[in-house]
Amino acid sequence: MAREQVLPMDSARKILQEYHIDEDVGFALPQPLEELPHVYDAWVFIAKNLPALIETGRLRAEVEKLPVLSISQLQGHKSQRLAHLVLGCITMAYVWDRGAGDVRKVLPSNIAVPYCKLSEKLGLPPILVYADCVLANWRRKDPTGPMSYENMDILFRFPGGDCSKGFFLVSLLVEIAASPAIKVIPIVLSAVQHQDQDTLQKALLDIAVCLKEALNVFQEIHEYVDPSLFFNVLRVYLSGWKGRPQLSEGLLYEGVWDTPKKFAGSSAAQSSLFQCLDVLLGVAQSTGGGSATEFLQEMRTYMPPAHQNFLRSLESGPSVREFVISRGSDDLQKVYDKCVQGLLSLRNYHLQIVAKYIVIPARQRPKGGHTSKESTDLEGRGTGGTDIMNFLRTVRDTTQKALLKDA
Ligand code: HEM
Repeated sequence: MAREQVLPMDSARKILQEYHIDEDVGFALPQPLEELPHVYDAWVFIAKNLPALIETGRLRAEVEKLPVLSISQLQGHKSQRLAHLVLGCITMAYVWDRGAGDVRKVLPSNIAVPYCKLSEKLGLPPILVYADCVLANWRRKDPTGPMSYENMDILFRFPGGDCSKGFFLVSLLVEIAASPAIKVIPIVLSAVQHQDQDTLQKALLDIAVCLKEALNVFQEIHEYVDPSLFFNVLRVYLSGWKGRPQLSEGLLYEGVWDTPKKFAGSSAAQSSLFQCLDVLLGVAQSTGGGSATEFLQEMRTYMPPAHQNFLRSLESGPSVREFVISRGSDDLQKVYDKCVQGLLSLRNYHLQIVAKYIVIPARQRPKGGHTSKESTDLEGRGTGGTDIMNFLRTVRDTTQKALLKDA
């Protein structure tokens, strides 16, 4: 009951609604729309059939003969998010096609114009983002059934069999497992404001428990994602046109801009979840300076604007970390550290995943085999464009430094 005195649940709910955060699925789009108005059938046909169209070499011709469609029939946020996902999938497939070095540097105006208009409306960049392929790319098979891998599917996939399903859904399920931690944030902040240690301690414990659950879910990646398919097939379709040698100038969006534009590829670094817990707990990722900070700040511009605003509002809120330190309570410090440790364990685990899915398959490439400039470039760089291991270790070390007591 103490929590009710600090911040009634109704007020907490309003705060979450304001920032487009769902109580059940957190930053994910709740119950994404699965169909667009029929006028967009030509887009949907391509997006639904990407693997077959790429396999048979017909993808680019299909895209080039698309009619120019206005976005005016896309009414409402969910319909616009679905269309952004559809156009994002088509764009990635058009640029990379079979991913073997035959790259397109110009996106035809019949797709570039509606895509850029829609992106502007949504405040998202005109490239496939995490908010598309993970947060808005899902459905429940049985709408009354659980949010479990078995009862869920993705709406759009890339070549590589079930690899995209595994990668997108496990990422989504990690987000969902951690969503109770997001739900409790308004309570945490209010407890700090009211100097209510008891409520704060309980809310932080909720967050720590949730992060443990998120780590359990993360482990499902081994079951559903094959490292070789991920590295050799799926990855290229998530890559962007920023810092890529084959698209060193970026992509020209014909009929929109006169010069090519550079955008980073889709990466879970665009997830608001980790960034928001960092900010909440005072883990100095986004303020510490250096290239990791710069990259994480840049990734915010690939998040839906409401979620960017949430991060900004957290940054201007009271400091949980300073309050915990100022109290000098052993119990409070312990539970705060449990939260930081939860983030640290997730990041350590993530490093192992990256070794298994990127570093090792890169080494296993047959010597003298597939050694296009593109493939060697993808080995050391993430789809978001980072120098992977250095970046991830920096982020992990910053998390570790936030622990108040050595674990
Ligand atoms: C096969 C599985 C995965 C691989 C190979 C992978 C790879 C990477 C890479 C290479 C980066 C560096 C940024 C970039 O340039 O893209 C990154 C960042 C990141 N990934 Fe993953 N990732 C995987 C799964 C996940 C999942 C399931 C999550 C959680 C939803 C996640 C969360 C993050 C976060 C939050 C970052 C930013 C760094 C941080 O805050 O720690 N990743 N990932």
